[in-house]
Amino acid sequence: MIITVTLNAAIDKTLVCKGLKLGAITRADQVLAVAGGKGLNVARTIHRLKGEVIATGMAGGATGLIIRQLLAAEGIPHRFTEIAAPSRVCLALIDEERQMVTEVYEPSPVVEKDEWASFRKLLGELAPQASLITFNGSLPRGLEPSAYSELMLWCRKNNPECKMVLDTSGAALRAGIKARPYMIKPNKHELEELFGCHLKQVEDYAEAVRKLLADGIELVLVSLGSAGLIFGYQGSVFQVEPLGVPEVKSTVGCGDALVGAVVYQLAAGADVMTAVKYGVAAATSNLTTQSPGCIEHDQVEEFYPEVRIQPID
Ligand SMILES: Nc1ncnc2c1ncn2[C@@H]1O[C@H](COP(=O)(O)OP(=O)(O)OP(=O)(O)O)[C@@H](O)[C@H]1O
Ligand SMILES: [Mg+2]
Repeated sequence: MIITVTLNAAIDKTLVCKGLKLGAITRADQVLAVAGGKGLNVARTIHRLKGEVIATGMAGGATGLIIRQLLAAEGIPHRFTEIAAPSRVCLALIDEERQMVTEVYEPSPVVEKDEWASFRKLLGELAPQASLITFNGSLPRGLEPSAYSELMLWCRKNNPECKMVLDTSGAALRAGIKARPYMIKPNKHELEELFGCHLKQVEDYAEAVRKLLADGIELVLVSLGSAGLIFGYQGSVFQVEPLGVPEVKSTVGCGDALVGAVVYQLAAGADVMTAVKYGVAAATSNLTTQSPGCIEHDQVEEFYPEVRIQPID
């Protein structure tokens, strides 16, 4: 069983149009609304791979209710703590003509102290069932950057065998890695922010990955978008070339599909190499859908044998 934690759950609304006009009306050709926030994309990926998952987190207001309804409609098991402030709507505007995605996010809700205590209690009750717990995305307002660190230590107390996976950015990532998660998955920007410098060549990434391994993180995945993936495990660093698809529909949520498929395989007892290959196959499948994490199981199986892992010296 995998638990995904989404503290900043949202409705991800996607409008698909041809030729987005700023300062004027654009009529969308297609509208999609899904329960979002990175942890919910991860849960969706696991669910679509037929893995056992519970999505948890905090959600509030009318939007929080819709998030729960959308999850129920998808059949994704979920247990959320109710908060007073409404969950946010994140808007993605896909312009098919320019092949460009513009995203606008509402400010996140503010979480009160008693709501945080309720969520900690819920997670403490759920944790003993899980072999892996993922913590994904930004923190809502009202929480300290150490929130993920605090939750990981709390989960470990309730389930010492459980592996913690962290995929976040900025101060939350910096503070979170102090709790030594089993796995992290920064993208290029998040890794550069963590190290406070620009990383250009493969060697730069490999050095950063080695430092994180030395800090006690067992599996470090650095996703580089269309440039693929560099990852470190047991002191060694590897590179994975990206796979191409005939038409990229959206790149939003590729990282989440990667995390979802990796943890799905790890929870099923697969070795790290198999899990990473499967993760890249799922991230590639995510390119062919406009809904984040909405990968196709058959497509992932098709891509999987094409993924090649090369060691970096
Ligand atoms: N344009 C692309 N072409 C081929 N593969 C891609 C492309 N974009 C992403 N990928 C695949 O998806 C993986 C994860 O992508 P990316 O680095 O964009 O994650 P991310 O920035 O964390 O995304 P998100 O946070 O939106 O989920 C990459 O390592 C790569 O394998
Ligand atoms: Mg990401």
